[in-house]
Amino acid sequence: MPTESETAGEPRFQRVLLKISGEALVGDGEYGIDMPTCLNFAEEIAAAQELGVEICLVIGGGNIFRGLAGAATGMERSQADSMGMMATIMNALAMQSALETIGIQTRVQSGVRMDEICEPFIRRRAIRHMEKGRIVIFAAGTGNPYFTTDTGAALRAAEMHCDAMLKGTQVDGVYSADPKTNPDATRYDRLTYQDVLERNLRVMDATAVSLMRETNIPIVIFSLHNKGALQDVLMGRGNSTVISGN
Ligand code: GTP
Repeated sequence: MPTESETAGEPRFQRVLLKISGEALVGDGEYGIDMPTCLNFAEEIAAAQELGVEICLVIGGGNIFRGLAGAATGMERSQADSMGMMATIMNALAMQSALETIGIQTRVQSGVRMDEICEPFIRRRAIRHMEKGRIVIFAAGTGNPYFTTDTGAALRAAEMHCDAMLKGTQVDGVYSADPKTNPDATRYDRLTYQDVLERNLRVMDATAVSLMRETNIPIVIFSLHNKGALQDVLMGRGNSTVISGN
């Protein structure tokens, strides 16, 4: 009996980078890493991988430490961003653990060297890992201060020649206003990179959007809340906003 995905056709992307925020790992808590939540994400990724899609992952660090917030309290910005980068490494290791718990092979590669803990980022090696069906988790953003993990995700998506960057958020796309506070807010199905930049739609920082525009990689904003959401977005089902060149 064919699975739903087989009856519904082929996935629309072959290789994707999934970006999730650090806050998404908090679950019902207020801080830190909730392992049952990580396991839920791992199940989502496993289901998506069953479609034959190569997946790499970038996770933010805001559930543990936010560089900008640290800088706001008077800490030197580069120093604060270094702490933020380390937070992303913690999240990457937690997700690696969750994925391995359910039998998914993963490799963590960091943008700052942490050789005793994970691999350094080596682009060609990361590609081989993905070709072998491993989920590669990129940690430590770009490895530089002043850049967000969204920009780190955009950079890795470009380097890995991903067909799309998928950003899992709290809401199922980009809205004309905050849908939580404004009942008249409407969701855009499609936007251009230019729309996002010109109208300052705060889905992703401008550096990340510019890089995606330059490399012509579509950004898909969707909600990770529902079970099967990642599979759905790969199959072109459900709600999302696609940001592309036209
Ligand atoms: P193949 O060469 O395709 O077999 O990939 P592989 O990742 O299995 O090969 P390798 O023998 O390089 O790695 C074996 C294990 O060591 C994997 O879990 C890697 O993530 C890990 N590993 C490799 N390089 C490093 C490193 O520099 N630091 C750390 N901490 N682990 C590493």
